[in-house]
Parts: sequence; structure tokens; C-alpha cells
Amino acid sequence: MSEYAVEMEHITKIFPGVKALDDVQLRVKPGEVMALLGENGAGKSTLMKIMSGVYTRDAGEITIFGKKVAGDLNTKQAQEMGVAIIHQELNMCNHLSVAANMFLGREIVKNGRLDKAEMNKQAVEELAKLGIKDIDPDAAVGDLTVGRQQMVEIAKALLIKAKILIMDEPSSALSNAEITEMFRIVKELRSMGTAIVYISHRLQELHHIVDSVTIMRDGRYITEGKFTDFTMDQIIANMVGREITNQFPRDDANRGDVVLEVKNLNAGRMVKDVSFKAYAGEVLGFSGLVGAGRTETMRAIFGADRIDSGQIFLDGKEIVIKSPIDAIKNGIVLAPEDRKLEGLCTKLTIRDNIALPNLDLICGKSGHINKQIENEMIDKGQKSLTIKMASADVEAGSLSGGNQQKIVVAKWLARNSRVVILDEPTRGIDVSAKVEIYQIINKLKKAGICVIVVSSELPEVMGISDRILVMCNGRITGEVDAREATEAMIMTHATQFGDNAA
Ligand SMILES: Nc1ncnc2c1ncn2[C@@H]1O[C@H](COP(=O)(O)OP(=O)(O)OP(=O)(O)O)[C@@H](O)[C@H]1O
Ligand SMILES: [Mg+2]
Repeated sequence: MSEYAVEMEHITKIFPGVKALDDVQLRVKPGEVMALLGENGAGKSTLMKIMSGVYTRDAGEITIFGKKVAGDLNTKQAQEMGVAIIHQELNMCNHLSVAANMFLGREIVKNGRLDKAEMNKQAVEELAKLGIKDIDPDAAVGDLTVGRQQMVEIAKALLIKAKILIMDEPSSALSNAEITEMFRIVKELRSMGTAIVYISHRLQELHHIVDSVTIMRDGRYITEGKFTDFTMDQIIANMVGREITNQFPRDDANRGDVVLEVKNLNAGRMVKDVSFKAYAGEVLGFSGLVGAGRTETMRAIFGADRIDSGQIFLDGKEIVIKSPIDAIKNGIVLAPEDRKLEGLCTKLTIRDNIALPNLDLICGKSGHINKQIENEMIDKGQKSLTIKMASADVEAGSLSGGNQQKIVVAKWLARNSRVVILDEPTRGIDVSAKVEIYQIINKLKKAGICVIVVSSELPEVMGISDRILVMCNGRITGEVDAREATEAMIMTHATQFGDNAA
């Protein structure tokens, strides 16, 4: 019997217009956590979808526990052979209960009826194996935090007795406390002998759990080895194909006048008496733990959530923002953190996604779409963010995760805005594309725009901001000059009222 849980060799996959995988190999042993690394669009998710039977391969061989897979592999067969996948974009049925999701397609039936009691019992047992005792099997999945939803997905994998677990960017939307919890569970699964393929763009977290790495680039296999045999610079160089000398380029610009002033803003439960000033030619970072109220503050300023009280001034004049349209008219734009839910229409083309918020610019007085302006806009977005796509006329949802994120940012670049708010702009984005986004932020800043960046990654917020405001429990708890900031300084402000991340 082979020492590997799974071996993939010479895997090739072609989508219309894109060779997503070209002669790729991958192997992972039982009880091993292997990081699968590569830039956005490198083919990581595609390879894992082939392993789990979601996509069929055009060529190549898959061997699972020494058994060669003859012909196409479908999801059911993959499951039976022990493969479970937790997708990059969680796809659970939000309105169904925890237990119903775990047993989806494999419901337990007794006397011709669903045996809900038995399914609930088993769901609780599986969750308990992961050390989770406070998830109600009757709770609707949509009411759980993303972190908890992921725990349910992992428990579901245990339920089908998965021996190979694929985790496609599990940490990108989790709070720090949830990530710690997830790592604990991954280690537990490893000790039980599960083979784990772990995909992440948060390279600094890998050392906590990873044993080995496989690196891909542009649909090709580049190298593999023990994690500790690589330096971080070597990993990045293999992913990117060149060296990245400065991960956080920050240009200096002349700070101008106050552009945006927020006074005593209250909105819902998560925004309490927030006041701050943001200047032209400045990058203002918002740091804090997940759940501190940063996103809610930005949504209120953008008119996406109702403001209960407070004032907003633009260039010294008070403005009234009741809806995002008011905000956009005043030159305030927001790229939201959740691309799938709020940032993109995944079923529309890239072209339409970029055009939609800019119809006022594209249509002119006649109301007809001016193709030339539209094409220029798309061109500008694609070039400045190097979006990897076959054409602008494919569905936005067919792009790799990181490239979808770039579209969310790109659609706002077309406008001449006064205030650009970016909420977690680099979530799920690879190292080199991150640098591209930072350079765009620098460009905006140099053009005298006021840029507000919400980020949960401390090195990022410290590396790109000029000034950092820290929030905790809906309030601004501190301000630090980014050039003098330390992680400890920020964390002190971020936990002023206790850790609200849990
Ligand atoms: N269903 C599809 N139809 C057409 N093209 C696709 C489809 N799925 C993936 N692709 C293309 O295949 C390539 C590889 O995409 P994939 O999602 O595997 O990248 P990835 O390495 O997971 O990237 P990321 O880190 O951004 O998630 C990309 O160019 C992508 O646009
Ligand atoms: Mg992916």
C-alpha cells in the first residue's frame, strides 16, 4: 500500500479560454498538514475540486490510498473514498439547521420519515469530538458566525469519516479567537491520521500548523518539500516567480485639509459615539478585532446602514447620507468586506459588475451605454490590478477568489472619488496582488484622495497607513501614528474593553 493518502499526477484541466492546470502533481500523507500555495488564479481551488469530484480532469491520474481512480470521479465517489472539502466560499444552506446541513444528501430515515432526533444526536456527538459543545443542532446555519459554520463543515467531514480533508482558505474570514480554535481542531485531526490540504494566503500563520508545502504558479507545479526547509522569502519567490523586496510599500504624500469629519456617530448596536477626521492625501487605517464595529461604522458613513445620530461633514460642509446613492453622489465610496454577499453580482459578467456603479458616467445624457467609456473603464481596472481573466464578458463568479476581490476594488477606481473606503481590501489576495493593491492605495493618496482602510491584519494596517484608529466594542479607543505603531500598542487599544472577538 502506498504511503500517501492521495497522489495526483499529470493533472490537466482546461476551461474555455484558460488552461487552469497543466501537468500538476500533488501528494499528501496521512497525518500530514500540507499547505497548497500559489498566487490568485494559480489553480489551487481547481485542483482541489478535481480531487473532491466537483470538476472532472481532462488528463492525469488520481490515486487515493493506493487505489487508482479509473475514469471520472464524482463527488459521491470522492466522499466514499474519504475525501471531504470545505470550499473557499462556504456553501451551506443558511436556512436549514446545523444537523440538516451535516446530513444533507445522507439523511437518516426511519419508517419513511426523517429521523430528526437521531440526526441531532449524531450531529452533537460529532461536534463534541471537536470539543464544541455550544452549537445547537437545531440552530439555522445562517445565524452562526462564519467561524462556527466552518466548525459545522469540519464536523460534517468527520461524519462522513473523511480521511482526506481539504480546507480552501478557511482562515480568511475568521476572528483571531476562531483561528486559534480552528488550528486546535486541525491539529487534532492530524493526530487522528487525517491528511489535510490547507490553502491560505495568510503566509504568516502557516508555521502554526503546516508540515509540508506544495507550490503552484500559473497552473503549474513548481516545487514541494518540508515547510521548515523553506524560508518565507523562498516560498514567496516560488509562488511569484520573482522576489518581492518590499511587502508594504508606503509612499509619502503631503497631507492636505480635512476631507471627511465624522462627529458623534451612533448607528445600531455596534457604532457608539464615533468621531474622527480624515485628511486629503492620507491613508487612515482602522484596526481592531473582528466584531469591533469597524465595518458597521463604514456602512453607516456610506449610507448602507441607518444612522441614529451624529453628523458627517465633507470639506467642512455637513452632508446628509441616507443611502449609498447619497454617499456616491458626494464622492464617498465603499468596497465591502464580503465580496460574495455585497461586493459582486457573481452571475453577472465582469463588465457589468464594473459598469453597474458607474452607469452615471457611462450613459451620459442620452441614457445609452457608451461602449468606449465602458471599455476604457474595464481596461483601466484590469491593467491597474492585473486581473487574470479570459475576457470581461465571463461571469464574475468564475474568477478565482482573489481576482473576484480585485473586481470589487476595481469598480470604484473608475470614479473620481473624494473618500475611498476599503474594508479588508486584501482578504484572500496573494502576496504580489497585495502589493499591487497597496500601490493603488498609494496612487489614490498621492492624487489627494482620502483613503480609509479597514484591516484585521496588523502588519498590513501598520505597513500601509499613515495614521491608525483602533476600535473596540463600537468605540474608537485609540489613535497611533503608523510609523511609530507596534502590534502591542494596537492590541492594547483593541482589547480595552476585554476581548470581543469570541
Ligand atoms: N468554472 C470555471 N470556469 C472558467 N474558468 C475557471 C473556472 N474555475 C476556475 N477558472 C479559472 O481557472 C484558473 C484557476 O482558478 P482557481 O480558482 O483554481 O485559482 P486559485 O489558485 O484557487 O486562486 P485564489 O487564490 O484566487 O482562490 C483561473 O484563471 C480561473 O479564472
Ligand atoms: Mg481558490
